[in-house]
Amino acid sequence: MSAADGTVDILLVGSGGREHALLTKLAASPRAGRLWVAPGNGGMLQMAQRADVDASDGAALAAFARERGVGLVVIGPEAPLVAGVADVVRAAGIPVFGPSASAARMEGSKEFAKGVMARAGVPTAAWQSFTDEDACAAHVRSLGGPCVVKADGLAAGKGVIVAQDTDEALAGVHECFSGAFGVAGSTVVVEELLEGPECSLLALTDGRTVVPLATSQDHKRALDGDRGPNTGGMGVYSPVPILLPGEFERMVQIEQRVVDQLRDEGVTYSGCLYGGFMLTKDGPKVLEFNARLGDPETQVVLPRMRADLVDCLLACDAGTLSPSMVAWEDDWAVSVVLTSAGYPGSYERGKLISGIDEAEALPGVTVYHAGTRLDESGAILTDGGRVLDVTAVASSFEDARNRAYEACDKISFEGKTYRHDIGIKAIKGRERL
Ligand code: AMP
Ligand code: GLY
Repeated sequence: MSAADGTVDILLVGSGGREHALLTKLAASPRAGRLWVAPGNGGMLQMAQRADVDASDGAALAAFARERGVGLVVIGPEAPLVAGVADVVRAAGIPVFGPSASAARMEGSKEFAKGVMARAGVPTAAWQSFTDEDACAAHVRSLGGPCVVKADGLAAGKGVIVAQDTDEALAGVHECFSGAFGVAGSTVVVEELLEGPECSLLALTDGRTVVPLATSQDHKRALDGDRGPNTGGMGVYSPVPILLPGEFERMVQIEQRVVDQLRDEGVTYSGCLYGGFMLTKDGPKVLEFNARLGDPETQVVLPRMRADLVDCLLACDAGTLSPSMVAWEDDWAVSVVLTSAGYPGSYERGKLISGIDEAEALPGVTVYHAGTRLDESGAILTDGGRVLDVTAVASSFEDARNRAYEACDKISFEGKTYRHDIGIKAIKGRERL
């Protein structure tokens, strides 16, 4: 529903840095009306009202949206998409940004995604799937070397074991089948280990037209030098400066083929299709697809995008997306994630955060909130493992990187921890050219 003045009231589902970046970009659109968040975080609640509704309950979201005249529901995270929340809201006649449950299986089941890729003729690691632990273990033994073991379903960023040898792979197989990842691990995909730099390509699509966003590169390990456990993402930059001629076009073509294949199979994919690629010496190969915008990739991609995001997200739902709706600034963005000491293991919450205003006073700096909340007095407290995404945009990569780290220094909270080498790979990786 659009008000007479053309503005649209929006309900945004989610509470991370991705959603704060989405909300910021939506709020910048002249078409943005009232903004609601479910449940939001400390930063989002400084810009929008909390919708007092269970964000995993599609019927409740649809009822809230209908009562308030909301004209666009934006779903940030994967779990509600895979659970079919977008279908319920869409069936109530309300425009939604986010794929249906059958389309979101591209993220919800690695086995399903591999099948679509095979039928679409898209390059990805060789693979086999198993529902029986002994058969899976026998296969891993027969490979006799490095491989990647993946729980089939959603496992909150865990559930992927990159094994350097048979023992590690067997341990991964046992972990999956022992229920460490719940039902997500009752089917296991074993695949070839690919080598090369990684690149994320998010794309908007209405089920037919695919509009690529800018490339980005995440840093998943907790510690400097890509050591330590995997996390939800410790920092990111955009664009990726190491692409060889033709690699970008190839990744876009792969995403287009997947959207076309799904449509041929009766599934309209609308929303964001996120391709995770390995840039191998034989060209880009798909590591995984996600059914939503990346976190923290969104925090460096959206600030560089010249577009009316309200129009773009509505067009994905309406089937009217066009490449002319999106253009890019010729600049660079780097985002460093400030975490609570102990993350991704256990950590404390409720620490007072100061210095965000000073950080944002630096040119080109925006601090997106991830795990924060406001107390009764309006003070900002830590409330998660990933706390803040300190993002800088500048006309050179080096300036963006230096500005982001300068901004990190201005922010204080007990236990503040971060990686010091975000973006170093981008600089080193230029040797690949
Ligand atoms: P995924 O959740 O499937 O993206 O996997 C998480 C991470 O595991 C990726 O970002 C890669 O670093 C790594 N990974 C996944 N699949 C492979 C593969 N076939 N070869 C090498 N690394 C992989
Ligand atoms: N940055 C990784 C993800 O969003 O899945």
